[in-house]
Amino acid sequence: MNDGAATLSVILNQGIRSVPTRRPEADAFVAFGRKPRLLDLFCCAGGAGTGYSMAGFDVVGVDIKSQPNYPFPFVQTDALTLDPKFISTFDAIHASPPCQSYSDLAKRNGNADAWPRLIDPIRDVLVRSGIPCIIENVDGG
Ligand SMILES: C[S@@+](CC[C@H](N)C(=O)[O-])C[C@H]1O[C@@H](n2cnc3c(N)ncnc32)[C@H](O)[C@@H]1O
Repeated sequence: MNDGAATLSVILNQGIRSVPTRRPEADAFVAFGRKPRLLDLFCCAGGAGTGYSMAGFDVVGVDIKSQPNYPFPFVQTDALTLDPKFISTFDAIHASPPCQSYSDLAKRNGNADAWPRLIDPIRDVLVRSGIPCIIENVDGG
């Protein structure tokens, strides 16, 4: 399943409720009696996602590779091709795009081109969504 619409139906078929969000007021979560939904992009095995879960979020992960140990609902797909309608069902988004190409080590070794540079493209997706978001990565990190 590689297109966003299919991804959305996978989520729905698993019985995960899709809730229109975009409420800026944190109090709305209390009023609605549910946890905020967090989209965990580039989730790998769920290190960051576990922290968000412990902090009170309902987490759904996305990674291009199979992640059999990911502890929350998971969608295997390219994070850059997600359907905006699917993205809009979340209250917050975390993204951990691959860091290798930006690292000082790769720059020193002259092989930074061996890895994708996804910070700019995923930032475009996140900004377009209008949903509060975090990108966990820094140039030179
Ligand atoms: C830095 S790791 C993420 C670490 C993770 N946040 C954690 O806490 O364990 C980057 C991940 O991005 C995934 N990835 C690379 N390109 C991707 C893409 N286009 N769409 C989705 N995931 C991708 C890789 O498979 C890898 O698992």
